[in-house]
Amino acid sequence: MIVIMGVSGSGKTTLGKSLSDETRIPFYDADDFHSDHNKEKMTKGLPLSDNDRILWLNTLKNKISYWSKIGETILACSALKEDYRKKLMLNNSIKWIFLEGSFKQISSRLFNRENHFFNSNLLKSQFDILEIPSYGTHLNCNQSSDELCELIVKKLKLNTNSSIGVIGLGVMGEGIALNIAEQKIKISVYNRTIPGEEKIVQQFLDNYINFKSIKGFTNIETFIMSIERPRKIWLMIKSGKAIDKLIKEILPFLDSGDVIIDGGNSHYSDTQRRLIELEKNNIYFAGCGVSGGQKGARHGASLMFGGNSKAYELLSPVLNKIAAKDKDGNPCQGYMGNDGAGHFIKMVHNGIEYADMQILAETFSVLKDQMTYPEIVLIFQKMNTGFESSYLLEITIEILQKKEGNHYLIDLILDQASNKGTGMWSSKAALDLGEVNTMISSAVFARYLSSMKTQRLDMSSRRLVPKKDLSIDIKTLTKAYRFARVINHIQGFNLIENASKEYNWIYNPQEIARVWTKGCIIRSKLMEEFTVLFKDEKSLLKNSSCLDILTKTEKNIASLIHHGVDQKIALDSYSCAYNYWISVCSKNLPANLIQAQRDFFGAHRYRRNDKPFDQSFHTQW
Ligand code: 6PG
Repeated sequence: MIVIMGVSGSGKTTLGKSLSDETRIPFYDADDFHSDHNKEKMTKGLPLSDNDRILWLNTLKNKISYWSKIGETILACSALKEDYRKKLMLNNSIKWIFLEGSFKQISSRLFNRENHFFNSNLLKSQFDILEIPSYGTHLNCNQSSDELCELIVKKLKLNTNSSIGVIGLGVMGEGIALNIAEQKIKISVYNRTIPGEEKIVQQFLDNYINFKSIKGFTNIETFIMSIERPRKIWLMIKSGKAIDKLIKEILPFLDSGDVIIDGGNSHYSDTQRRLIELEKNNIYFAGCGVSGGQKGARHGASLMFGGNSKAYELLSPVLNKIAAKDKDGNPCQGYMGNDGAGHFIKMVHNGIEYADMQILAETFSVLKDQMTYPEIVLIFQKMNTGFESSYLLEITIEILQKKEGNHYLIDLILDQASNKGTGMWSSKAALDLGEVNTMISSAVFARYLSSMKTQRLDMSSRRLVPKKDLSIDIKTLTKAYRFARVINHIQGFNLIENASKEYNWIYNPQEIARVWTKGCIIRSKLMEEFTVLFKDEKSLLKNSSCLDILTKTEKNIASLIHHGVDQKIALDSYSCAYNYWISVCSKNLPANLIQAQRDFFGAHRYRRNDKPFDQSFHTQW
């Protein structure tokens, strides 16, 4: 507890505020705790008596006891008499700062203050009763606020450094920075000042003036120096080359053991490369997937950390605070494994997100042929109360109710879906790893197809007319929806499992599912179910409860696909889900013919059912 004392006009409030800005220790002005009666007297320029101060001193004493328990606090307080100070010090440890100045000095300071009512009698009475303490730090009030702050910081060995730094104040960076600051963690923020971005830092500080734990910088070196070592520097900038450029820029100012965390949607192979490169400089590099969009970043995200476990230990206390909380109150953040694991898992999260969105869009396309939007909303609302409930379904319900004038907004939105690439990366990763992920790929291709708007318009006359006006019953549709989503998650988790084997990452699907139960875009009831299912079996295709769901709903997805064919509705993802299941449950596939063809034209050889599998054969066709 730091108490800055002095007579009125000594500058204790100004100094308290500056010291608070510098150290991010909360500041209070004791004058704010006076009774209305005392405030009225002071406004009239009447000196307060000992009696007047009894209640005030009691309130302050209680406040000081409370503040002392929760951390360091700065209080500006006249505390003119030793008796007053004794009362405040009872059971409390206080570091006193006394702002000294002669009557002449202080009266001229007061006289020069703009809009200040100066009553020399009031000041005189304060000087009359003032008992200068023989202890504490005595400073001359005529020194500048900056000089005084520096002296106090040195004398009391106050830590002015930030615990963490965030680079990039875009939507996500701003959210993460505010989330961190809200947890009372001292944070430095930096944004570049290229044309158009010159005022970003100042605007941010102005907008969030109440967040006392933030310090803003536009100079990268001073930003880095403002962070305590080992430094934790969180990048929230565009993925790709910009990250490499920034690393190059900050590297000369970093010290051994510092950690750079990339919180963007970077490609996991870039993260693997950067980690190896930075290891040579004894700098830890970590890739942390952040899901939950703007809201999640600001109020609680789902965080997937990948990198050195020592770096994770350093970051974990911050991650615990800024993550969303699962149903048991545990933070939705976790250590996903070494190097690119966090970014890989975030990438697959996005892939699952793509496919879940596509399944919903296909469901919507079936329903909108047979009912109105309010009717669809009712169906979705019902689905959202049970096993099918999810964040994506929840927002879809809101979207379908949004009107602009007389129009539903959805009807005014162009049917061309864009993407930033993470779905495509997931598909590519699956292909590279030899893993089947038809759900994500179909969702990516569906977006690509949607982009071919001109071509689609030209071709639309060739679309065959639906057979007849059929409708599908909602139970069937709901079960088909369940089927497709389960397959989507099976493929997503299998992809992570395969990558974990390839790259030697830990594979803990139960923990991944738990981290995905809150905060992220694919949070859902199904995800909560998976946290339980994964307890018994890491592979969903071996999990009897999971397989039971699919067996029970297979006929429903089959009916839906028939319906799509009859009604000429493209059901890319539903079809992929169904075909995957049929193939994966087939004893025999026509791949024997593929092998024969390969051997026919290229002598690629084949294996035989009637011979040991480690032998291969060629036929002179
Ligand atoms: C999240 C989101 C987020 C973002 C995607 C959207 O988890 O918060 O997935 O990362 O919304 O980048 O991806 P597309 O722009 O490719 O659809």
